[in-house]
Amino acid sequence: MTDVSIENQQLQAKYKITSMFYDILDYPWERQYKKWRPNLLKEVRGKVLEAGVGTGRNLQYYHSSAKVTGMDLSKEMLKIATKRGKSAQCEFHPIHEDATSMKSIPTDSFDCLVSTFLCCVMPDHLQPLAIKQFERVLRPGANFLLLEMVYSKNIAIRRKQELFAPFVQKVYGARFDRNTLSYIEQSSLLKVTKTYFLKEDVYLVIEGKCQK
Ligand SMILES: C[S@@+](CC[C@H](N)C(=O)[O-])C[C@H]1O[C@@H](n2cnc3c(N)ncnc32)[C@H](O)[C@@H]1O
Repeated sequence: MTDVSIENQQLQAKYKITSMFYDILDYPWERQYKKWRPNLLKEVRGKVLEAGVGTGRNLQYYHSSAKVTGMDLSKEMLKIATKRGKSAQCEFHPIHEDATSMKSIPTDSFDCLVSTFLCCVMPDHLQPLAIKQFERVLRPGANFLLLEMVYSKNIAIRRKQELFAPFVQKVYGARFDRNTLSYIEQSSLLKVTKTYFLKEDVYLVIEGKCQK
């Protein structure tokens, strides 16, 4: 068995349990995130791939013309997303798929890739694999939009994050020290056009275009 499949199995096992409480556990943070999601997604149109769709928290904010394919490694998370997708305005197709391989997804098939809090969950050494897949499945000129959390440079904020870090890793498999932006910057096909923080220097948005 490869490293990828072992790590994915561990993550699937974690999310089998986490999915039962995800929306409740995440509620204190989601109160903030739900203020950001509409703005983040308001320009997103066309065929959209949402990688790591989770319980489908973004779905209600997509424009009615968007055709969203929501991918997740966890069947249990997808099941919740599927329910949520029924009341969304956009078209929604859930798929059980791994972002590091995307075997069922044809090349050049999406106008936009969206991913919120996926890469902070994905181990660093798997991220270049997922980025290769983002490059492959996006059509030339397609957009991408990622939201991730990172460690702050402010000592007081960082101390709070360090306090939460063991919980966040145990429950979600997420970490604040992933190097997602630098992996994307190493891509020759994904061009970062804008980065900004939604709150303090913690919630990082990475936007760009696929140039192939
Ligand atoms: C922290 S949740 C974020 C959910 C959602 N995007 C949100 O904003 O609330 C991360 C999600 O990514 C999924 N995930 C992790 N690794 C993945 C992979 N390799 N391929 C697809 N999904 C993955 C997890 O199963 C989980 O549902």
